[in-house]
Amino acid sequence: MDFSVLEKNGLKDMLSKTAVDIFLPDGIFYWSGRAKKEAEINGTIGSARGRTSHFLEDADDTVRTFYLPSVIEALRKLDPEQIAPYAPIAGAPAFRKAWRKWVINKLSPHYDFDADLICTPIVVPGATPGIAYLSRMFLSPGDTLLCHDRHWENYELMYEDCQGLKIDTVPLFSGGGMDVGAFAAKVKSMAASGNNVVTVLNFPNNPSGYMPTIREGEELRSALVKVADEIAGKIILIFDDAYEGYVFEEDVAPVSIFGHFVGAHPDIVAIKCDGATKEFLLYGGRVAAVTFAHHPDWGDKDAVFAALENKMKAFIRGSISNCNRAAQEAVAAALEDEYIVARERQTINDVLADRYRALKTAIGNADMKGCVPDPFNSGFFCSLNVNVPAEELADKLLGEYRVGVIPIVNSKLGINAVRIAFCSVESEMIEEMVDRISKAVADFWT
Ligand SMILES: Cc1ncc(COP(=O)(O)O)c(C=O)c1O
Repeated sequence: MDFSVLEKNGLKDMLSKTAVDIFLPDGIFYWSGRAKKEAEINGTIGSARGRTSHFLEDADDTVRTFYLPSVIEALRKLDPEQIAPYAPIAGAPAFRKAWRKWVINKLSPHYDFDADLICTPIVVPGATPGIAYLSRMFLSPGDTLLCHDRHWENYELMYEDCQGLKIDTVPLFSGGGMDVGAFAAKVKSMAASGNNVVTVLNFPNNPSGYMPTIREGEELRSALVKVADEIAGKIILIFDDAYEGYVFEEDVAPVSIFGHFVGAHPDIVAIKCDGATKEFLLYGGRVAAVTFAHHPDWGDKDAVFAALENKMKAFIRGSISNCNRAAQEAVAAALEDEYIVARERQTINDVLADRYRALKTAIGNADMKGCVPDPFNSGFFCSLNVNVPAEELADKLLGEYRVGVIPIVNSKLGINAVRIAFCSVESEMIEEMVDRISKAVADFWT
């Protein structure tokens, strides 16, 4: 973006120091904007989309953003009293109660934990502000936040530009899976000076589409419990679970590995941030939740939850005041029948699983000229590491092959990849998309 207009007319002088420094990076918007106009196959859109008939019975083939019928139906049926009044700062009681039950029911088939240690979730307007408030809760400007080298590109804007934090990273992968040892070793080294270590863990991961296997989840728990025994400070694990439950392989943790850390160690503070935005495909509803796990050594659970909730409410009140009420009420109403919600989610998951399998097969069969995807097994995306300049490839793909992808380049981290959002490409188009990508790569070598 060119800001020279503000310099020429003198308006730049009116800006705060933050406003002078900050800007919205145009990377992802530039590529998705171009793809909208130029692409026949658009793999830039990070929301589940496709023909209505693919997720609704007796529907036509209009292409749209997928949704959960029970939630949309509940929205239609809302009483004005559920729409017009403010929601309480921590969220509508019906939603908070329903979401706590949902969280516990999601996790309990897969993890052994005491449900009493789970707080009543606090409502935030999306996972984005949820994880941003949490970093403000535990870190001051200049402090360091740890995340994986594969991370959502918005983390830089949220944490570095808006909050003045430093992001440190650790490789997500080693060989074909998660590098659990590297993460634990990094936490240990960051804690060496007695500091607390604050980390954000995002699985299924954007951009790689990776969820730890069941074994990796268990290994991470053991490794971090061991580190917690050895260090003086606390390990704060913020789980960015925006894409929770979109998992396509049997040996993969079906839901957030937060479940492993509930009550795991008095020096491990586990906090879950999940939401209706992606999980219930209600992106524009802007409803998500922050859920703390207690540890019995911290004393009176209710007092601890009340204190943490008060801090969160201060961040909410001091920024957005409170969240959209209608969306909370609709999700709460839909959750009165969790079975229906789960069934509707399964339908969407099946559609995405088809696309995932089509992509795996197509990449496996194509001559990718040495380009290799990151391990992927879940979520909305796949990240293809390419051996030609990723931005030039994305440009060629759009201009000559009419395929939209998002290039991801980070020379410091050695990342040169294109992100393919298979969540928005129908399975019948995936082989063709991969064929065009392999041809575009080949063009660079001939
Ligand atoms: C890893 C990750 N976390 C959070 C979000 C944002 O979620 P929400 O729409 O709930 O703010 C995204 C979305 O694009 C994401 O990729």
